[in-house]
Amino acid sequence: MPRRRTPPQIVRRRSKLHGWGVFAKERITKNTRIIDYAGELINTKESYKRETKYLKNGCIWCFTVNRRWVRDANVGGNNARFINHACKPNCYSQIDGHTIWIRAAKTIEPGEELTYDYHTEGDHTIQCRCRPGCKRWI
Ligand SMILES: C[S@@+](CC[C@H](N)C(=O)[O-])C[C@H]1O[C@@H](n2cnc3c(N)ncnc32)[C@H](O)[C@@H]1O
Ligand SMILES: [Zn+2]
Repeated sequence: MPRRRTPPQIVRRRSKLHGWGVFAKERITKNTRIIDYAGELINTKESYKRETKYLKNGCIWCFTVNRRWVRDANVGGNNARFINHACKPNCYSQIDGHTIWIRAAKTIEPGEELTYDYHTEGDHTIQCRCRPGCKRWI
């Protein structure tokens, strides 16, 4: 199938999982690049400082790109920052250089909430609410 020229339409709305979430406005086929996870590119040392501060408010904004670099969506982020985590998600992340793509892991129908696995490291201080009875901490 030819690669599409325009990104699929998505919208930010209140989510049953947590606060804001991001939802598909149209059918999105498997492996489509939906959005890039934008944010200031910072080094891991700076990220550690900021993350400690963000986590005190229960927020995860920093996304690891590689061993040196992290994207902080709290500075210069786009709607990707509102995509919630799920343990059985319908999206996945893919790193291409310093760009983090959120891509469809399956066909996503209009109205479905987009989710990906955060694969968090560290203290795991937030109880996952992706489904009733989920035992994971993110
Ligand atoms: C990148 S933000 C996602 C947007 C967030 N819902 C908001 O309104 O700002 C990440 C934060 O959302 C919350 N979150 C995301 N997925 C979650 C889940 N499955 N269970 C519980 N909290 C979640 C956590 O507080 C996490 O720090
Ligand atoms: Zn979960």
